[in-house]
Amino acid sequence: MLLEIKDLAVEVSGRQVLKDINLSIKAGETHVLLGPNGSGKSTLFMSILGFPKYNVTNGSIFFKGEDITELNTTERVKKGIGVSFQNPPAIRGVSMKDLLKVESGQSLKEEKLTPKMYKLAQKLKFNDDFLKRDVNLGFSGGEVKRSEILQLLAQKPDFTMFDEPDSGVDIENVELLAEEINILLDKDKKHRQRKRSGLLITHLGYILNFVNADIAHVLMDGKIACSGNPDEILADVRKEGFKGCVECAKCSTKS
Ligand SMILES: Nc1ncnc2c1ncn2[C@@H]1O[C@H](COP(=O)(O)OP(=O)(O)O)[C@@H](O)[C@H]1O
Ligand SMILES: [Mg+2]
Repeated sequence: MLLEIKDLAVEVSGRQVLKDINLSIKAGETHVLLGPNGSGKSTLFMSILGFPKYNVTNGSIFFKGEDITELNTTERVKKGIGVSFQNPPAIRGVSMKDLLKVESGQSLKEEKLTPKMYKLAQKLKFNDDFLKRDVNLGFSGGEVKRSEILQLLAQKPDFTMFDEPDSGVDIENVELLAEEINILLDKDKKHRQRKRSGLLITHLGYILNFVNADIAHVLMDGKIACSGNPDEILADVRKEGFKGCVECAKCSTKS
């Protein structure tokens, strides 16, 4: 098991947002977390990442068999957790190029990116002028998402979470992002050879047209209400809505 969440409850600003969350993700698996706006998807994302204001009131989070519930975000990232934020902040005074150097383990003294990193940057449509720009400052929606993915490609995390990678992005950008997400999740390898895992958070489900997930979960009012086959669950959500989906008896697990 790569990530294991046991009986997790999380409070934000004095409000109980997540309750009784149990979630296990094996090495090589991609899970998708669906759910309506405000159901707690981003809260779960931030809690796994260990942001201080997300207060764990019950339960634990294990990563690679180790209890990480009390670790800070930096320590978690160093253990191999990577994230693509829905709305990442701009970092004034830090260029894309310098951030990519740090993330890929280069020294800031080195003038150029490694050829591999430079090629990836070009593939994600970041040219030399763009690499000199401050991170996310004045970036368009698609550029922000591409920048998040490029940073992940530099970090090569073992477990990557994507918060709404398909929201606010046009079709061409979604396809480009999905291609790299598939690489980050070892989709270019055979099932049994995959090691890297991920959690895709989406309320649209659109990204699933381009990235295959193994298991889907539906989050409703801070609880996982249903888990199962992503295609079946998505079809039910599209037909019946989230509420109709979690009320149906087909779900392989129900809380
Ligand atoms: N910093 C915060 N302060 C107070 N309430 C919050 C905070 N962050 C999230 N919430 C509340 O938690 C609930 C879940 O939010 P969120 O995790 O962002 O949902 P989702 O990502 O599924 O749309 C919402 O009701 C939201 O208002
Ligand atoms: Mg959200």
